[in-house]
Amino acid sequence: MALIAPSILSADFSKLREEVEMINSSQADWFHVDVMDGVFVPNISFGFPVIKQVKKYATKPLDVHLMIVQPERYVQEFKDAGADILTVHIEASTHLHRTLQMIKAAGMQAGVAVNPHTAINQLEDIITDVDLVCLMSVNPGFGGQKFIPGTFQKLEKLRKLIDSTGSKARIEIDGGVGSTNAAQLINAGADVLVAGNFVFSSGDPVGTIASLKKI
Ligand code: DX5
Ligand code: ZN
Repeated sequence: MALIAPSILSADFSKLREEVEMINSSQADWFHVDVMDGVFVPNISFGFPVIKQVKKYATKPLDVHLMIVQPERYVQEFKDAGADILTVHIEASTHLHRTLQMIKAAGMQAGVAVNPHTAINQLEDIITDVDLVCLMSVNPGFGGQKFIPGTFQKLEKLRKLIDSTGSKARIEIDGGVGSTNAAQLINAGADVLVAGNFVFSSGDPVGTIASLKKI
């Protein structure tokens, strides 16, 4: 059974507390929290004040996905805002090994995210240092985009890399996940599914989360 992480990027921010409580009451496992800086990605989402409010009401871990340049600048701030898992992009952190150690030293699980153009073999020398690999199945920046089918080949390679090295990393798929691909992703070895648009644009988000959980 995969973990389900609804992305609050697609939530209705005018009633954020209710949305958080909806996820609390659902079978979701984590809150996926997308932070965008308008530099690494062509969009700006939200920052510390919003994350702190989510943390105040959330009863499940915050899985914070940083789409920002030089994420190492803000590790402690995200810890203080309430992050439980902190994921940085391989394309955004020059001294990735050091950044991951900083995240762990701050008491969080450390994740690394890879864009659709980034080869899985670039993870070889870091795979035993991470708790999570976030495999982007869209180009990051926006919710509601179309799933990139090439993700399946990358998922297969990543599954092999993790299993052959004894890495404890979970594989998270982020972008365009829904009823058309969720089962196939889980069968191919995905451990965590992020779902934004699919959950929040449905008339029954709690039921939609339950349907993903049942797969
Ligand atoms: C994309 C974000 C995703 C996004 C997923 O930049 O990292 O987490 O919110 O949203 P959907 O499920 O709508 O593609
Ligand atoms: Zn994300």
